[in-house]
Amino acid sequence: MRSHYCGHLTQENIDQEVILSGWVHRRRDHGGVIFVDLRDREGISQIVFDPDIPEMFMLAEKLRNEFVIQVKGKVRQRPEGTENPEMPTGQVEVLGLELTVLNASETPPFQLDDDDVSEEHRLRYRYIDLRRPEMQNRLRLRSQIIRMLRNYLDDNGFLDIETPILTKATPEGARDYLVPSRTHQGEFFALPQSPQLFKQLLMMSGMDRYYQVVRCFRDEDLRADRQPEFTQLDIETSFMEEEQLMMMMEDMMRSVFAKVLEQQLPNPFPRMTYAEAMNRYGSDKPDLRIDLELVEVADVLTDVDFKVFSGPAKDPNSRVTALRIPNGSSLTRKQIDGYTKYVSIYGARGLAYIKVNDKAAGREGLQSPIVKFIPDDALATILERTSAEDGDLIFFGADKTKVVNEALGALRVKVAQDLDLVKHGWQPLWVVDFPMFEYDEGAKRWTALHHPFTAPSSDNPQDLLDNPGSSLSRAYDMVLNGTELGGGSARIHKQDMQTSVFKLLGIDDEEAQDKFGFLLDALKYGCPPHAGIAFGMDRLVMLMTGSSSIREVMAFPKTQSAACLLTSAPSSVSQAQLKELGIKKREVLAEKLADS
Ligand code: AMO
Ligand code: AMP
Repeated sequence: MRSHYCGHLTQENIDQEVILSGWVHRRRDHGGVIFVDLRDREGISQIVFDPDIPEMFMLAEKLRNEFVIQVKGKVRQRPEGTENPEMPTGQVEVLGLELTVLNASETPPFQLDDDDVSEEHRLRYRYIDLRRPEMQNRLRLRSQIIRMLRNYLDDNGFLDIETPILTKATPEGARDYLVPSRTHQGEFFALPQSPQLFKQLLMMSGMDRYYQVVRCFRDEDLRADRQPEFTQLDIETSFMEEEQLMMMMEDMMRSVFAKVLEQQLPNPFPRMTYAEAMNRYGSDKPDLRIDLELVEVADVLTDVDFKVFSGPAKDPNSRVTALRIPNGSSLTRKQIDGYTKYVSIYGARGLAYIKVNDKAAGREGLQSPIVKFIPDDALATILERTSAEDGDLIFFGADKTKVVNEALGALRVKVAQDLDLVKHGWQPLWVVDFPMFEYDEGAKRWTALHHPFTAPSSDNPQDLLDNPGSSLSRAYDMVLNGTELGGGSARIHKQDMQTSVFKLLGIDDEEAQDKFGFLLDALKYGCPPHAGIAFGMDRLVMLMTGSSSIREVMAFPKTQSAACLLTSAPSSVSQAQLKELGIKKREVLAEKLADS
């Protein structure tokens, strides 16, 4: 139905007869001549309808935005002075000779060039939103990126193998989406949070190198970089240690960035231990485009007459840190109050600060509600350690380590964005030497920092049982510009180690057998050492397209409350369907009344 794409016409096509098909992007009547910007996936061409062919002209007068039409016409040079250098096709236009309306359109709910459309509206009418050139470009780039990644893996001997979607839960730390079974009433499949166990089983099956571009499902709190279903590039290898795998993976990323964006990523990627990342940046996914760092000051504040500082300074599970903001003394009271409120989201109970007006003037040159509590030598040490200069501001976080890291880690990024302190470019890094376990104070038990199949640095299960708090894992995360792009590890490949880890996590033999019996069995029959990683494709494409959320790079994303506005999913189902599944709905209203 077309000889050319609208967006491909150039001066080389002048005098050719062409057939174009697409959407009416805009129609303009100009004193007896009608101009139509005709749009398809590749771009826009200007069509001119003269009144010489009256029938066609009358039809052209009826065209409205988003009508689908086919035009036969002749390409010609635009008259002098009417060229549009902004448009790739701006030197030429098509003189319409034949016009067919393939389909009319009602007035669309929003215009494609309207920047002010609510996201709700965009998601409800996603098929119109996706017609916008920027959305088309993002999905095109996504396709290109995934193709490059596949090519790289194909070239390196990886096999693309599918794994089940209707399966058993794998713990990746989120809630499962469950699917009731009709044939086994009262029982459920879980949608995979990742193919973790299947890819390990593929290594035990001798497949050696596996990859899959695969959908994963996690029922968790959603954010700009989290969706309930998302796509991983999932990878697993046998007989490869983490070092070799990490080198290969960064080479893959360098090659994709070079080919798709013509950007060079560093070689090799820098590496940082988890401990260093937390100490310096309060985050295990530090954005290295930002120079601001957390500086330890607890040791000089243990004896100050200010409990907010001295309490945490004396507590081994707390920290007191300073964060220097260059030129921050221009922050107003209102802005500081705003940041104080911001850190309270992370549990911080306050945000002490010192404005450094005139260092040479000693404490007189410092403006702050708290300097009166801090002795001269401690003030001097704080200024020296933070390298504060006149005009700077120093924020303080004093609390449990977890609270300070989360609060000041987030504040560091927020202030940097607000004050334009984020450098341009790409800053990838590997974060390594993660702890094996984290203690969950609420539940009073150890949890796996990655997942329970991650190998510890020590080969001795007894080491792990004796020192769960200080055991490190063989996990690694790839971080890019403050986003966790991917994570993986060398895996446990011996049954006794796997059993010990389950035991530490409070999974007893019976539960282990029930949930992971197939894995424990498989570990008995010749399991090779293996390691792998999974990358978040949505996040990678978000970063590579400069988008603010992964929703912008997914064709049909869900809302913050995990609903699809386009199809109205989730939705209720018929009584008959429920009955077939052996499911009865609780009377929610009656229960609420009974509870109250
Ligand atoms: P992990 O849970 O770290 O590891 O996930 C790997 C990567 O997937 C992306 N990701 C998400 N993207 C969008 N929305 C989400 N809700 C979401 N959750 C995770 C992130 C993350 O780095 N099986 C292990 C991998 C392995 O050990 O090989 C796993 O799934 O970019
Ligand atoms: P207060 O004594 O509670 O009025 O606090 C004095 C200053 O310390 C205020 O600027 C508070 O914002 C700040 N502050 C209070 N708690 C903390 C904390 N845990 N960490 C950092 N600053 C705090």
